[in-house]
Amino acid sequence: MKINKVTVSAPGKLMLFGEHAVVYGHPCIVTAVDQRMFVTAEVNDSGNFELEAPDVKVSAYKRPLSEIGIGEIPMGAQFVETAIANVVIKYKKSLTGLKVITRSEFSSQFGFGSSSASTVCMVKALSELLGLKLKEKEIFDIAFRTVLDIQGKGSGFDVAAGVYGGTLYFVTPGKTIEKLKIKTLPLIVGYSGVKADTVTLINKVSDTAKDYPRVINGIYDIVGVIVNEAKPYVVKENFEELGRLMNLNQGLLESMGVSINKLSQMIYAACENGAYGAKLSGAGRGDCIIALAPSKNVSTVGKAIEKVGGTVIKVKTNAEGVRVEK
Ligand code: MEV
Repeated sequence: MKINKVTVSAPGKLMLFGEHAVVYGHPCIVTAVDQRMFVTAEVNDSGNFELEAPDVKVSAYKRPLSEIGIGEIPMGAQFVETAIANVVIKYKKSLTGLKVITRSEFSSQFGFGSSSASTVCMVKALSELLGLKLKEKEIFDIAFRTVLDIQGKGSGFDVAAGVYGGTLYFVTPGKTIEKLKIKTLPLIVGYSGVKADTVTLINKVSDTAKDYPRVINGIYDIVGVIVNEAKPYVVKENFEELGRLMNLNQGLLESMGVSINKLSQMIYAACENGAYGAKLSGAGRGDCIIALAPSKNVSTVGKAIEKVGGTVIKVKTNAEGVRVEK
């Protein structure tokens, strides 16, 4: 049956281990979080693409469908619009008119991957509306292509979390996407209040790599080793060992130059108040830290993070991937 309106949702993500090194072919581990992005898409006869995306301050955005993906696109519309253009071109489809509304359960400031989640949602929504029946890997490929068209850089781990959900062992560009079978991963998440820009930070580390290639490549290699050490402990839910490995990973992120005082303060506060370990999560220089602690210490750790100015964000990890909402 042909449908003309659909709502889909995709989860946000948190990187557990392996940021930056993952861009250069090393593995990472990422978990999907239960705060989700929603996209409602409706086919009409207007001949236009219309977008309402209040979370990124886009209101009454409209352009003829014949022009989408061409020329200057406002920031807040880039991912959704480019995703539509890419799907229509790749699958040789046409649309008579499309109205899209996005809504997020999490702030685009957190670094939970709002851009990749909205891209994944848009591809899935079009798959439903155009009867494409795209498989997870097909959604991943076109959504990752879209993110690269806009950002130019990135590993795609966030796109994979949005599509597949759960907790993934990931190697770019989707060479390995392995779902790790776990029941629980009780992360404590502390938000720094500072917005990080992924591409700026990738460039910052690669600038250091230009001057000291052996040093930075050595660090990336060790990050890859940490990820592989962590993998069985994720599956065994051994949070104590994962905490130790988080601390090791954090030391290397510090040496890449992507931590800041605010993140380090939250990390030390967590570790000095009963966490097994903690690290920044994502590109660095802002966004969030993650910590693991024995359940008896979780509330003390949360309070310690807040005492140094962080905001604890309650999330459930290992959340479901992209889905059609009933
Ligand atoms: C950003 O959240 C993580 C990075 O590794 C970039 C990426 O993997 O796309 C820095």
